Amino acid sequence: MKAVQLTGYGVPSEVCQCIDLPDVASPGPGEVTLKVLAGPINPAELLIFEGRYASKPELPYQPGIEAVGVIEQIGEGVTSVSVGDKVISLGRQNWVQRVNLTQEQVIKVPDSASTGQLAMLKVNPATAWLMLTDYVSLQPGDWVVQNAANSGVGHSLIQLARANGWRTLNVVRRDSLIDPLKAAGADAVLVDDDDLGERARDVIGQGKAPLGIDAIAGTATTRLADCLDDGGMVVNYGFLSGDACQLTPNQTVFRDISLKGFWLAKLMGGMSRETLTGMYAKLAGSIADGTLHTPIEATYDLDAISAALDHAHRESRDGKILVTPNGAID
Ligand SMILES: NC(=O)c1ccc[n+]([C@@H]2O[C@H](COP(=O)([O-])OP(=O)(O)OC[C@H]3O[C@@H](n4cnc5c(N)ncnc54)[C@H](OP(=O)(O)O)[C@@H]3O)[C@@H](O)[C@H]2O)c1
Repeated sequence: MKAVQLTGYGVPSEVCQCIDLPDVASPGPGEVTLKVLAGPINPAELLIFEGRYASKPELPYQPGIEAVGVIEQIGEGVTSVSVGDKVISLGRQNWVQRVNLTQEQVIKVPDSASTGQLAMLKVNPATAWLMLTDYVSLQPGDWVVQNAANSGVGHSLIQLARANGWRTLNVVRRDSLIDPLKAAGADAVLVDDDDLGERARDVIGQGKAPLGIDAIAGTATTRLADCLDDGGMVVNYGFLSGDACQLTPNQTVFRDISLKGFWLAKLMGGMSRETLTGMYAKLAGSIADGTLHTPIEATYDLDAISAALDHAHRESRDGKILVTPNGAID
């Protein structure tokens, strides 16, 4: 069977290749065999390949932080899923045609929901949801200001905020995104620049803006904080600029702006199975009813992994890049 393997650290498309592995054995007690249908190429994946993530896995390494698939076989004692169920994988080695996982590592999802959308359920919708709900007690009509707003997380945040009565002010780096993001549910969209704070305050008016969501870091954090109320909080969850988050003394001392970091992997590690399945049931339901939708720009078979990684690395994409280990998906 086909699998992707990382053999060194460097340019993602050069250090990953599609290899042939023996098929998986029958699942052991408490295990299932998952036929992997699709998984996205997330920025974290690219950071791992470049050796810039929180940890460097031992090589050779089989990547794939998230995926959706269908249960093909179950081992003795498996009760939570059956053959034919569509599930997401909580394992982190999913860019392969089949993988054996424990039954605790899979969560059943609605068969009716789009496979491509479910492929992206584990990371970005959960990230958006937890950042919206874990840091600030948002009131109806409050504004949330986010940058890199056309990202996967950005789309989920816009849609989840709207569904819960919060407004979003979305910061992007190109004009061409204004109309598509408004069509996706954004209340306001601004192109980033030094006067972002002033323009944001014009939009927000008498409204409240207690929460900023930062994927970029560097001086983008400063500009995001300029959009918030005094006493507001910036939650930083990415470093797309490659720089450290910057806040000025005026922001921290006189305006009481605070900064917190968010890392989904750490939060998920501390969640009970019940909390985790409850969160994913809610988010999968939002995919099934059309509330949550992330644009997909292209899908690739595993043997085109280099082209897929080059594509995922490109700026100005109109959606996520997915790998589809067992061919075309719905
Ligand atoms: N901490 C966590 O637990 C966690 C969880 C999920 C995601 N993340 C992070 O969240 C971020 C977004 O992830 P995603 O999967 O949603 O991304 P994605 O869908 O792949 O989109 C990437 C986005 O980043 C923008 N971008 C890239 N470099 C930029 C820069 N230097 N300045 C401004 N914008 C830039 C792109 O804008 P253009 O379209 O203009 O190129 C695009 O909107 C990543 O940094 C990822 O690592 C963190």
